[in-house]
Amino acid sequence: MAGRIPKHFIDDLIARSDIVEVIERRLQLKKAGKNFQACCPFHNEKSPSFSVSPDKQFYYCFGCGASGNVIGFIMEYDGLDFVEAVEDLAHAQGVEVPREAMTQIKPAQQWEHDYYQLMEKTTRYYQAQLKSNGERVVEYLKGRGLSGEIARDYGLGYAPDEWHSLQALFGHDQSINKALVNCGMLIEKNGNRYDRFRDRVMFPIRDKRGRVIAFGGRVIDKGEPKYLNSPETDIFHKGRELYGLYEMRQHQRKIDWVVVVEGYMDVVSLAQFGIRNAVATLGTATSSHHIQQLFRYCSKIVFCFDGDRAGRDAALRALSQSIPQIKDNREIRFMFLPDGEDPDTQVRKIGAETFAKTAQGSPSLFDFLMDHLRSQVDMDSFEGPGKLANLAKPYLELMTDAIHRERFIQQLSLLVGLSERKLTDLLLESKSTEDESKPLVSESQGVPLTNISQLTPIRRAIALLLHKSELINEVVDYEWLSQLEMPGNEILKKMIEILKESPHISVGALIENWRDSSVQPHLLKLANEELLTPLDGAVQEIRDIFNRLKKEFKKQRFNQLQQKSQRGPLSTEEKQEYQTLLLEL
Ligand code: UTP
Ligand code: MN
Repeated sequence: MAGRIPKHFIDDLIARSDIVEVIERRLQLKKAGKNFQACCPFHNEKSPSFSVSPDKQFYYCFGCGASGNVIGFIMEYDGLDFVEAVEDLAHAQGVEVPREAMTQIKPAQQWEHDYYQLMEKTTRYYQAQLKSNGERVVEYLKGRGLSGEIARDYGLGYAPDEWHSLQALFGHDQSINKALVNCGMLIEKNGNRYDRFRDRVMFPIRDKRGRVIAFGGRVIDKGEPKYLNSPETDIFHKGRELYGLYEMRQHQRKIDWVVVVEGYMDVVSLAQFGIRNAVATLGTATSSHHIQQLFRYCSKIVFCFDGDRAGRDAALRALSQSIPQIKDNREIRFMFLPDGEDPDTQVRKIGAETFAKTAQGSPSLFDFLMDHLRSQVDMDSFEGPGKLANLAKPYLELMTDAIHRERFIQQLSLLVGLSERKLTDLLLESKSTEDESKPLVSESQGVPLTNISQLTPIRRAIALLLHKSELINEVVDYEWLSQLEMPGNEILKKMIEILKESPHISVGALIENWRDSSVQPHLLKLANEELLTPLDGAVQEIRDIFNRLKKEFKKQRFNQLQQKSQRGPLSTEEKQEYQTLLLEL
């Protein structure tokens, strides 16, 4: 594990970058007054409502509400996580990302960079082999209906029928050979090293940034094992990767839905038929990480399984991983193919259009779950309803989303013929005491700052500071803010502290301090609303606000002391404070 990225580095990185430049590299921006505009890349639209502010260093879409700073944009647009986005931005600026010292640094870490280069060179070599030496392979691929275009998009290649082709390619440098072993390309046995992949069609597995991190190699025609895969290495963790994800994103940025299949050939063959939005798990069960990743790109996932027993079991595993992630407008569906078919054969049989239509119309997660429960219970029997409730319980516990829980209980209650109340009791009954404190239907998360959307003085102060950071000079006396009982007080205090330290910080950099907080979107919204007050008016206004807030704070303090004095004697300091307040108020 690498150490944390120091906060000051991130602050500097944002300060040095220009969001307009970063977005312009990905979208065509048009100047519109002070800002730049484009059609929003995060939802479908015909007229531009996506706006980028060079002054504030953030973007905002009036259509879908997407907003953020430069890091947020890279994360959203390129589908990266936070660290990856920071690395990407740093790379564009030609700087290394520093890490805070860790007690243990894996020696392999220093190799990482080389690994990617080795894999890239190997990929190109296999591709060249396909052209120069792979007539038989090309025939095989053609026979399976693949065009040159798809073979190129997926980077297919051919590993020649030799034991030492990679050593011939890379030479005999010890450290390189060692690295090739470490990334799974050479096998080391009894002091000998030889090619892992021989006489196979090579499917490069790319990470979501497009770097080749592993391979799948298929025998040409028949043989065992049918597929050989790279082992787990420092750069390849198969439970985290999805085959075809990068290629899908390369082909199309806006993705409406994605279908998850099992095989390399399924992905490639669907692509051949124009269904470019297929990805495959790499011989592992679908993990929650996979699902999370896919939901970054679209809100609809269709899992496609064989119709047999194994397919059903795999579907149930995917179901359990999926339930906790259902929320908002997310949609998960389960498609079962007829016995003996896989997506590759099925799309050939029924065509792309029917395949896509069937996929998108397959049973929803919810229907699949209800079916699954129902199929295990004889509802006409006396024990039926109780048994069903019992079977449902673990699934209910996985549902984190209140709306879905409620709907699930509703449907179950219809099915078992009990009132929702009774059923809820029944479901709770056998729970451990520890769990009883948790409400069955979780209360909706109180959104902090809801009050900010009304015109409270705090909201106004935050808005003023967001728009005109120079107003920070007017704020001198604010330590008491953290004791003020008023929603948003902590946010205002934190903002003041940051501005005191860096008065010239952009809004984009400022709001970075609320990443992963539900406050951030509210701040962006405030920052984006037009503030019509001219500067001198704003100076007066913020002074007034702070006077009012301070007065309110004194009142609260006075009441506190008064109440306290009714319960017992005040200390000398408290008495003094009370006297002063009494005179002031
Ligand atoms: P399949 O046997 O369904 O292969 O395995 P496929 O994708 O349909 O391939 P074709 O059509 O016969 O060429 C599905 C997936 O399981 C893994 C691979 O990831 C494969 O794509 N697998 C299968 C292996 O890793 N090794 C094997 O020997 C077989
Ligand atoms: Mn197949």
